[in-house]
Amino acid sequence: MTFATRMGRVASSATLKVTAEADRLRRQGIDIVDLGAGEPDFPTPEHVKAAGHTAIDENFTKYTPSAGIPELREAVCQRYRADYGIDTRPDEVIITAGGKQALFNAAIALFEQGDEVITHTPCWPSIPQQITLAGAEPVFVQTHAEDGFAIHAEPILAAITNRTKAIVLNSPCNPTGALISEEALAALADTAASRGLWIVLDLTYEKLIYERVAHNLPRVLHDRLRDRSILCGATSKAYAMTGWRCGWAVGPKEAIAQLNVVQGHATSNVTSITQKAAVAALTGPQDAVASMLSEYRTRRDRVWEWLTEDPRFTCVKPRGAFYLFAYVAEALAPAGVRSSAELAEALLRDAHVAVTAGEGFEAPGYLRLSYATSIDRLKEGVTRIHALVRARERTGARS
Ligand SMILES: Cc1ncc(COP(=O)(O)O)c(C=O)c1O
Repeated sequence: MTFATRMGRVASSATLKVTAEADRLRRQGIDIVDLGAGEPDFPTPEHVKAAGHTAIDENFTKYTPSAGIPELREAVCQRYRADYGIDTRPDEVIITAGGKQALFNAAIALFEQGDEVITHTPCWPSIPQQITLAGAEPVFVQTHAEDGFAIHAEPILAAITNRTKAIVLNSPCNPTGALISEEALAALADTAASRGLWIVLDLTYEKLIYERVAHNLPRVLHDRLRDRSILCGATSKAYAMTGWRCGWAVGPKEAIAQLNVVQGHATSNVTSITQKAAVAALTGPQDAVASMLSEYRTRRDRVWEWLTEDPRFTCVKPRGAFYLFAYVAEALAPAGVRSSAELAEALLRDAHVAVTAGEGFEAPGYLRLSYATSIDRLKEGVTRIHALVRARERTGARS
């Protein structure tokens, strides 16, 4: 069979693959500890679910405008006004099927063959894949465990060439939990302004930051690069709404109109019912967000302690999101495997623990463990991981 040549340049989602394989084993009755999932284990808050029910009961089940209902576009503006003090108008917002579609629409609308688009690694796999699907070339700037994978401006600035079209940033970052500072973003924004570059900022985990830290990135871009920046967010992680599929992009109205052209020919509007639920999420009480964050913080601290009890697993304490990104190179030889991808396979097959290998994030030698699961399951998962390495070390097992 022949497919478009672009398909030869992209790979399927590593994170979705782990979920699918874990599901398959679970259906066989196997007790899987799932640390692969990139989604909250909490239910969607009650008032949000109720808004979805009401939408169905009131027959709000037809097409909506492709860019979203005005009420929801306004709700995003209100949220950003309350959280970041920035003023945006509904025509500067498009509602998308998750943060993923916001980023995808932006990639298709902005990038093309011949363009270079800079992003930082380790990174969420869809960022470079979307750049590639748009025909452009991702340029990777590495961040380093030694300083917590902090996203610095200098190496990104050094990677700019006369082919650079844009910089895509993700803060808090999946998989590292690192943040970009306001100062670093300001430096990038100023250069982007003078060189005519776009900045696309993925804020999918914006509500999941553990310390009190200045992270008003929307304000920085609004002040310095308003007409060439796109902010992408979602209800998915903050409000435990991954399955509802709701996100948004905020940017200059001409750009948002272009993103809407892409969306109008791809999927049209986000599910009408979801849109009503998202209005409730964004405008209703925010206490569920705070209590989930507090629970994630407890889990982060516990699972970090447990995992690093074995010195062959080293790990930066993440500042945001809900993943441990553990360096496991020292555990590979004892476990009788050659790569973190093989270790992840062995863990799923033999210890029934689902984790995601660093290879998917442009970071071989690492495993990503999601702590969006209960403390008991986290303890069980880490116990199984350590036990597999120790048992193989004892028996000299080979995978
Ligand atoms: C960094 C990052 N950006 C965007 C997304 C997209 O999220 P969604 O489309 O589910 O809102 C994810 C999901 O895992 C992510 O990790």
